[in-house]
Amino acid sequence: MSANTQGMPMAPVAPIGIFDSGIGGLSVLQHIHQDLPHEDLLYFADSAYAPYGDKSEAEISARSLAVTEFLLQRGVKALVVACNTATTAAIKAIRTAYPELPVIGIEPGLKPAAAQSRSKIVGVLATRATLLSARLLTLQQQISAASGVQFELQACVGLVDQIEKGELRSAQTALLLRRYIAPLITQGADTLVLGCTHYPFVRPQIEKIVGEMTAQPVAIIDTGAAVSRQLSKVLSENNLLHGPARTGQVNAFTSGSQSALRTTFANLLQLHPPVSVVATIAQPTGIS
Ligand code: DGL
Repeated sequence: MSANTQGMPMAPVAPIGIFDSGIGGLSVLQHIHQDLPHEDLLYFADSAYAPYGDKSEAEISARSLAVTEFLLQRGVKALVVACNTATTAAIKAIRTAYPELPVIGIEPGLKPAAAQSRSKIVGVLATRATLLSARLLTLQQQISAASGVQFELQACVGLVDQIEKGELRSAQTALLLRRYIAPLITQGADTLVLGCTHYPFVRPQIEKIVGEMTAQPVAIIDTGAAVSRQLSKVLSENNLLHGPARTGQVNAFTSGSQSALRTTFANLLQLHPPVSVVATIAQPTGIS
């Protein structure tokens, strides 16, 4: 059995921690809640610090470690980094700091996209930090070399802010989406990767805009469901799955607005968890 940060054994009854720079991770939480309905989930939205995608790798890593420590203090048995940007910047540091903790990250689905693209041109929508990371560059080069697929990378600056504001269908959001998607379609992409967990919440708008730009079918790849499957597998391998005789509870924390997170849970997931505001979280000691 694994041990938590205090050296205590992790128990199957303990909750699963999930975090994102804001509300994006809810697009992953919805899969986990469906697939593992008996599990208690603790969600941390670091909305006061969103977007992570415009910050340096050192800042994202420090913040991710602090949020991880906060969730560990609440006894989580596993951690889902439900943020592509935090995964690319910080998952190594999290695993190094907490070697006993099962940690599942999310990365843009370049591999499934390459496997199913016929035009061999794949558009990747993600944050600037994700697209500039060494981790993504390596992944992209490996998959391109093996498959001959060309990846067109598009940083969607400003899109996370719009989604955090709840502006899923506004004219400004549509304008940004058009601006970011048009060059990818023009270059012949037949597959678009949603490389940020906020973007599934504007997927209907993306599909509509793509439909207006081309008559060709364009596939959209989102890795939220795969993360949930990987979490189930890891929990099962570690004998950490909660028994079936109960309904799991969701509890949420935010460094931003309580009412905004409540509204988002209700509007996007039809869930009504208690939401606590966390004004400050300390940087864990001994981690630089
Ligand atoms: N949901 C985060 C991701 O998957 C958004 C990052 C941000 O805050 O910029 O990348």
